[in-house]
Amino acid sequence: MSACLPERLPHPIIEIRQILAGHYRRLSARSRALRFLSPIREPGIEKLASAANPEFVLAVEIDGLNRAILEAFRLSSTHAEIGLSVEDPFQGHGYGSRLLMAGISEARKAGFESLSLFFSSQNKATLKLCRAWKATFEREGGCLVAHISLSRASSIESS
Ligand SMILES: CC(C)(COP(=O)(O)OP(=O)(O)OC[C@H]1O[C@@H](n2cnc3c(N)ncnc32)[C@H](O)[C@@H]1OP(=O)(O)O)[C@@H](O)C(=O)NCCC(=O)NCCS
Repeated sequence: MSACLPERLPHPIIEIRQILAGHYRRLSARSRALRFLSPIREPGIEKLASAANPEFVLAVEIDGLNRAILEAFRLSSTHAEIGLSVEDPFQGHGYGSRLLMAGISEARKAGFESLSLFFSSQNKATLKLCRAWKATFEREGGCLVAHISLSRASSIESS
């Protein structure tokens, strides 16, 4: 499993949306609720995927399917919001950590200076992932917003 590395999807947006929909469908209800902060099912999955317009998408292909996906959405010329998810049977194997590391590198190449990630305060795995990049956190109700500075991240990458 650990040989599978995140790669940027080169596909046109129509195909990326189909890939996203397939991945969202394969997530458990719990993981989907953590990813979208709401218990999304069909037809919500289709609606969400068909409206997605990410700046870039990174994915880890396992057994011919994109099982771990990071999406980055441009919010300004220097800032992007990211979302990521790993299909349940593959969680806990380091894919999330590798995706975030690759996402930081790709975001830098795209000219971003900072990233944010919005997640439930109960989401311990995401909290750990963000802490590893020295994120700062802001509370919004039952959620946390992690802010990752890409300049600060570069000192972590080189250490
Ligand atoms: C969050 C998520 C992407 C993490 O992916 P993953 O591949 O399971 O994560 P990793 O295996 O790289 O583990 C990352 C860290 O979290 C820890 N971790 C993993 N699952 C955990 C859990 N359930 N509780 C506490 N810590 C956990 C790991 O031990 C690791 O910490 P370490 O580096 O100190 O060992 C994955 O759990 C997921 O898809 N969750 C549902 C969607 C979601 O929450 N998305 C984030 C909000 S957009």
